[in-house]
Amino acid sequence: MLSDYTAHAKVILIGEHAVVYGADALCIPMLNLTLHAHVAYDEQGPILETEGYCGPFEQAPEIYNGIMYLFQELVVKRQQDTHCRLTLDSRIPMARGLGSSAASALATIKAFDQYFQLGLSEDGVTVLGNHAEDIVHGKASGLDFATVRSEKLVSFNRATGFNHIDGKLGAYLVIADTGAEGSTKEAVAMVRQQRDASEQNRERLDYLGVLSDQAAQAWVQQDVLKLGDICNQAQEILASFGVSTPMIDLLVDTAREAGALGAKLSGSGLGGVVIALTQTREQAQQVAQALSGKASGVWVEEL
Ligand code: PMV
Repeated sequence: MLSDYTAHAKVILIGEHAVVYGADALCIPMLNLTLHAHVAYDEQGPILETEGYCGPFEQAPEIYNGIMYLFQELVVKRQQDTHCRLTLDSRIPMARGLGSSAASALATIKAFDQYFQLGLSEDGVTVLGNHAEDIVHGKASGLDFATVRSEKLVSFNRATGFNHIDGKLGAYLVIADTGAEGSTKEAVAMVRQQRDASEQNRERLDYLGVLSDQAAQAWVQQDVLKLGDICNQAQEILASFGVSTPMIDLLVDTAREAGALGAKLSGSGLGGVVIALTQTREQAQQVAQALSGKASGVWVEEL
């Protein structure tokens, strides 16, 4: 008996930091960047292991703790045969805001569910996934786990929860890795301190939330030019709060010079990834090529 599941990464389009204070955040599933879970019988089991890009579990103790929790819940507590091997093979770089732990959790749950024929409900998957994410991140919003399960744009608000936004934008997104980990905790604290320091800063941060609403509208109206401009405005505000870095600035400038309609950091900043919007596939390839000499990884998603 074998069991396989492939989960994808996610990236924030807009609304990072503002979401902490009640604004909406928009999040994009990255269908071309995936992680694969495989469960098989192994008489030396239980064995939990990783292979591929993300490296051994020793480099990701938090993710390991989340997976151990899922193993306990799905296998040990349900008195299943522990002679099994779970292998996670990930292409998703860790600690870049790409949802690698959420994708690990989802793929693990689904692969065990299939292997042991547990018949988990979708709600059951949500509860387990969110708990695994809490173990990895402290109290998580659930945004990552919702987006790695979705093939649609996801809108998230702390008070009202998730919405799936139908329809294609008719554009391309280039995602470039700075190669640096971004500390969400540090970035959130930096922004909070400045927000509390002056009314002007608070208004500037609130305007990020306005941009996020405008971005949702532009998506529905398939107004790619407008969305590009919104991304550029958001980058300016995020940079003014100090969460951009010289590497982020370099990738943003490179993308714009190569023809992107808009470019910004994505996620907490202080590292992580940069996203760039283009109208056509050819432009996306041009931007990706320009970025590939400078970034640690580049991916293209059709929106
Ligand atoms: O970098 P990520 O994907 O973990 O996103 C962080 C988003 C923030 O708005 C900066 C923090 C948060 O908790 O929403």
